[in-house]
Amino acid sequence: MKNFPLVWVVNGPNLNKLGSREVQIYGEKSLTEINSDLSKIAETHSVEIDFFQSNHEGDLVDLFHRSSTSNVAGFIFNPGAFSHTSIAIRDAITSIENPLFVEVHLSNIYSREKFRHFSYFSDIANGVICGFGYHGYFYGLNYLIELINGSKKT
Ligand code: DQA
Repeated sequence: MKNFPLVWVVNGPNLNKLGSREVQIYGEKSLTEINSDLSKIAETHSVEIDFFQSNHEGDLVDLFHRSSTSNVAGFIFNPGAFSHTSIAIRDAITSIENPLFVEVHLSNIYSREKFRHFSYFSDIANGVICGFGYHGYFYGLNYLIELINGSKKT
């Protein structure tokens, strides 16, 4: 059986509440629904996909430490509020050799409170998508797949 490249979709705190949390900002789709649509995109493009969500900073640090041994080709990451606070998760990602990832935010963080304008991940990400609602995950995955297949250069 052929081994397809493995992609992770990682979501940080409060994103398990999508669909019921501040729907005027984050929309009505649940994370389960978004993930199910992402699985379909992955299947079409012959990539394997795994999903993680945690409300705990240390769990996300541990997860990224496992990415090399898990043979992850790249990941989509919405760090939630940790975007604006977590040097620990940033360090976990920079400890990965050549991390390939797209940072996704549902909302346009630049049109919101000032404390959301800075992200600890944007300068180390291959791309950043924000303000497109749940579509951002789909755009991010398509772009990541092109990066993994070597058809896009950053
Ligand atoms: C978010 C934006 C963050 O500022 C916020 O803390 C979130 C979600 C987004 O997807 O728009 O939890 O990452």
